[in-house]
Amino acid sequence: MMASPQTALVQPAPRGVRGHVRPPGDKAISHRYALLAALAEGRSEISGYSTGGDCASTVRCLRALGVAIEDTGRDASGLTLTITGRGLGGLSAPAAPLDAGNSGTTMRMLAGILSAHPFHATMTGDESLRRRPMRRVIVPLERMGAQIGSEDGRPPLSIQGTSSIQSIEFTPEVPSAQVKTAVLLAGLHANGTTTVHESLATRDHTERALHAFGVRVEARGRSVSVEGGQRLAGRSLEVPGDISSAAFWMVAAASLAGSEIEIRSVGVNPTRTGIIDVLRRMGADVQVEPSDDNVGEPAGTIRVRHRQLGATVIEPAEVPGVIDELPVLGALATHGGELRVTGAEELRVKESDRISALADGLRRMGADIDELPDGFHVRGTHRLRGGEVDARNDHRLAMAFAVAALGASGPTTIHDAGAAAVSYPEFFTVLESLRV
Ligand code: S3P
Repeated sequence: MMASPQTALVQPAPRGVRGHVRPPGDKAISHRYALLAALAEGRSEISGYSTGGDCASTVRCLRALGVAIEDTGRDASGLTLTITGRGLGGLSAPAAPLDAGNSGTTMRMLAGILSAHPFHATMTGDESLRRRPMRRVIVPLERMGAQIGSEDGRPPLSIQGTSSIQSIEFTPEVPSAQVKTAVLLAGLHANGTTTVHESLATRDHTERALHAFGVRVEARGRSVSVEGGQRLAGRSLEVPGDISSAAFWMVAAASLAGSEIEIRSVGVNPTRTGIIDVLRRMGADVQVEPSDDNVGEPAGTIRVRHRQLGATVIEPAEVPGVIDELPVLGALATHGGELRVTGAEELRVKESDRISALADGLRRMGADIDELPDGFHVRGTHRLRGGEVDARNDHRLAMAFAVAALGASGPTTIHDAGAAAVSYPEFFTVLESLRV
C-alpha cells in the first residue's frame, strides 16, 4: 500500500503471490524505437511504448529537436506513439537545453545522434543523472569529430555536432550497450563503416532495431558494424513487455512459498534472459514458452513457481546480461539460498551506488549481506524482520526492497518509492493485486 507517492509501506506476503502480469513495454527497446523512428523517413507507429518516466524523457527531447510525436492511444501494453521521422541528419537545433530527467540511456544514445548534427545542443538531467559518468561516450564521439564539453566528465553535456562525422573502430572500456549504441548511431551518419568491439556481449536491441528499420548491420562474434548513410524507413512495431520489470514478480514467485506467477507478452531476447538462468540455478521452476509472431524482438510467456532456494554465484562474464536485475537478485537471496556477485562495479555508477545502497537497505531489514568492491554476497540464513529503508531515488532499488519486504516478518517502509515510476509506474498497484 502506498502511504504517499514517495513512501511505500509494504506488508509481508505470508501466503505468497499468484496471478498473471503483462509487464510495461520494455524500456530499452522503447527508447531505441523512438530514436530510430525520429531518424527514419515517413511515419512509424510504435505500440506498447513504455509508460515510464525515462521513455517520456526521450520523447520530450525528440520533440524539442523538431520531431512530431503524437500520443495516439494507450492499452495494457503501454502507449501508442505515431512518430513522423525527419530522415537521417534531419533534426533541428533545440531552443533550450534538453532535459533527459533520470535517464542515462536517453542522454548517452542521443549524444551519439546529436554529435552528427551540425548544431549546438546542451543535455542535462536530474541530480542523479548529473552525477553519472559520460566520458565513456565523450571519448569515442570526440574521436569521430564532435566537440563535447562536460563538468569533469559529467553532465550537463555541451555538444557541438558536425555534418562530417567520421567512422571509427572502437572498443569501449566498460561493456555497455549504451556506449555501443551511441557510437553506432553516430556512425550511421558517417561515411564508411563504424565498428564496435565488445569485451563482453551486451544487449543487442540496437542491432535488432536498426535491422527492423531497414538498416544492414553486421554482427560477427562480439563485434558489430554499420555502414554510414543508410536510410531508415518508418515502421509499425510493437514493444514487448520488459523482462527487467517482470524480474520483480519472477523473483517474488521464486522465493515466496505458495507462489506461482505467469508473465505474458514479455521480451525474451537472449541478451536479457540471464535472470532465468540464475533463478534456475538457485532452484526455481521457470518455464518459457516463446510466441512465434514477433517482429524485431523475441517475446513469450514466462511461468515461475516457488521451490526451495539454493546457492549460486554470478561471475563477471554473466554481469552484462543481468545488470539491471542484480538489485532484485540480491533481494531474492534474502529469502533463502545464497548469492555472490563479482565483476559488477558498474552498479556503483547507476541511478545510485547500487552496491552500497542495496547492502545498506537490506541490512536495515535484517539481511546478512557483505558489500564487496565489485559486488555483494547475500546469505539467506534467516527471515528478514522488515524496517525502514531508503531507495535513494533509484527505481530498481525501490522495487527490489519491496520484493525483499514480502518475505519479512514485519512491515517495511520504503522512502523514495515513487522512483519506481521511472520504469514501472504501476508497480505498487500490481504488487497488491498479486498477493494471495
Ligand atoms: C541499457 C544498458 C545498460 C542498462 C540500462 C539500459 C540500454 O546500461 O543498465 O538500464 O538500454 O542500453 P549500460 O549500457 O551503461 O551498461
